[in-house]
Amino acid sequence: MSSVSIESKYVLAAGGRETQEFARLDLLQEIFDPTTKSRLDLVRPGWRCLEAGAGRGSIARFLSQKVGASGEVIGADIDLAPSAGVALANGSFVKHNILVDSLAPIGGPGSFDLVHARFLLQHIYDHEDLAIQRMVELLKPGGWLVIEDLEAATMAAADPNHPLSEGYDQIITGSVAAMRASRAVDPTPGRTLVPRFHRAGLVNIRHEGLLYIERGGSKLAQWYVQSTEGSRREYDERGYNDAIDLTIRALKDPDFWFQSGAFHCAWGQKQ
Ligand SMILES: C[S@@+](CC[C@H](N)C(=O)[O-])C[C@H]1O[C@@H](n2cnc3c(N)ncnc32)[C@H](O)[C@@H]1O
Repeated sequence: MSSVSIESKYVLAAGGRETQEFARLDLLQEIFDPTTKSRLDLVRPGWRCLEAGAGRGSIARFLSQKVGASGEVIGADIDLAPSAGVALANGSFVKHNILVDSLAPIGGPGSFDLVHARFLLQHIYDHEDLAIQRMVELLKPGGWLVIEDLEAATMAAADPNHPLSEGYDQIITGSVAAMRASRAVDPTPGRTLVPRFHRAGLVNIRHEGLLYIERGGSKLAQWYVQSTEGSRREYDERGYNDAIDLTIRALKDPDFWFQSGAFHCAWGQKQ
């Protein structure tokens, strides 16, 4: 497949801001890994697994332990810098764009028992179905696709009495619309997983979505602050500076309570 027709615009690319981005990805892992690991309980020794958009590599490493010496794990990503230094006993990290690169170097069609991707679809807006179709192509018959992603539209202030709540809610509504308009980050990929899995012909589809009520300064709040700061360049150009400042002030205030984005997961099996 040609590598020029589909643009992959990763707004949080580490280039030039590695320290901040690696810290953001480390915190992401600390917050979400326990849930992801329980969601991957189905993985068995001897399986061949693909971690697509592997980032810092903690889930590839976890899968590698689960499948053991008789299995294999490939961690694929367009950027290998974040996972440099992570060793897999029974696999490797491969530079690979899930949208355009040949499937052959990672094993080819029908070669994986599991393909997992977390927070990848949100960064390939308008190409989610293509990515899912290619991930399904990589599965053996009976293999599992497990995708986790977020839903920003559930983010909201939780305490109507806090002075920043009203402004925060207006900003969330505006920023979901702005993300959509930018076509750079999909703000609501989580809720689309199940229909996409059906369209891709998967069976035995299951889904769950989790929400959290947290306060400013929590680990999740810190991650939101880092993610907001990380994409500031993108939004600064659009004149959202005051909104970003208010959001960050709220997320650092321990008296500010908020509802998180939803952390969705869908499982589906190839026939
Ligand atoms: C938000 S990070 C999530 C990392 C990891 N999945 C996790 O949850 O810890 C998104 C990752 O997807 C990668 N990525 C973005 N577009 C990609 C593409 N088209 N193909 C493969 N990886 C991609 C980025 O380089 C980045 O490492």
